[in-house]
Amino acid sequence: MDSKIILDISNPNSHGDCEIRDAMLARSLRDSSVSRDFAREYPLVLSRGDTATSWCVYKYGTLVSHANLWPRTLKHLSSKNTLPIGLIGNVATHPDHRGQGYMSTLFEHLAKIAQRQNLQALVLWSDMFPFYQTLGFSSIGRETRFSVAKGDRSKATGITFGTASTLTDLDLYTMLQSRPRLDWTLDRSLDEFRRLLSIPDTHIFIRRKGQKIVSWLLIGKGGDMRGVIHEWGSASADELLNDIQSILHDLEINELLLLAPANLHQHWLSAFKSRATSSTDHPMALGKTVGTNNESILALARGFIWGLDSI
Ligand SMILES: CC(C)(COP(=O)(O)OP(=O)(O)OC[C@H]1O[C@@H](n2cnc3c(N)ncnc32)[C@H](O)[C@@H]1OP(=O)(O)O)[C@@H](O)C(=O)NCCC(=O)NCCS
Repeated sequence: MDSKIILDISNPNSHGDCEIRDAMLARSLRDSSVSRDFAREYPLVLSRGDTATSWCVYKYGTLVSHANLWPRTLKHLSSKNTLPIGLIGNVATHPDHRGQGYMSTLFEHLAKIAQRQNLQALVLWSDMFPFYQTLGFSSIGRETRFSVAKGDRSKATGITFGTASTLTDLDLYTMLQSRPRLDWTLDRSLDEFRRLLSIPDTHIFIRRKGQKIVSWLLIGKGGDMRGVIHEWGSASADELLNDIQSILHDLEINELLLLAPANLHQHWLSAFKSRATSSTDHPMALGKTVGTNNESILALARGFIWGLDSI
């Protein structure tokens, strides 16, 4: 980059700035340039009311690059220890300004902000591994993707569509508690959970026994994870798989992909494997230590970040 160019890195500070940002993100990260829907996919980080996690690079007042830095807390299930990390997402440089070092400059700036905020690691999701490798990121954690195909016969289990607005706080609490118990995961408040569930094209399925939710799963999330079950909770692997079969038959879908932490208890993984048509292992995310403490990266290798938390 020409060292004489003066860049300003700041949060968008008007409604108009946010509109320009969202249009650039939609154009760079989606097939369509419709910006209104794009911000609705990220209610907690692209909100127009709170822009503190949204970082824009302006070159002489023109937006050239953007990335979110979202401080989150990793929580240990039993000890309640916590570790602060930053999630990065919505990474894009305007097509007219790519290859000029603006994203590298923004990432250097984000690392400094993360240090000031005492965050221990930066975490992001992308299949552009070579690009992020140049910025110092490497793979962290593992996840397994199981293909679950529609079987010959299925008994309806009673699992059915749910909507975020009809779920009570107790429902949301029960759902969070019924996810598989891993050493570490991201803390999420009930209010955050409710707002994340209202992301367009997030399909909620729930099964109740009496009033209590005993099994649930989420398919899709905005433009991402179509046909993918990316977050779920159930009493057993068999119950979850029966619910998935019930959905496949009800909705006449041939196949769904089930995401699971690769470090899930062996009896869950064996049950999934025995009823899936195939399974593949992948890195869960990409991460980079900020400073010298790599405790968070080690914790993430023993934990999992669920689909709704990724940006
Ligand atoms: C990927 C993207 C954000 C890069 O932004 P940029 O401002 O052009 O990046 P920079 O100019 O700062 O390049 C940083 C480094 O990454 C390298 N790089 C850039 N794009 C790359 C790519 N697609 N694959 C591999 N390396 C890449 C550059 O060569 C540079 O390396 P160097 O420092 O050794 O020269 C931009 O191309 C973009 O917006 N793409 C479309 C949206 C997208 O894919 N976002 C990422 C989603 S996870």
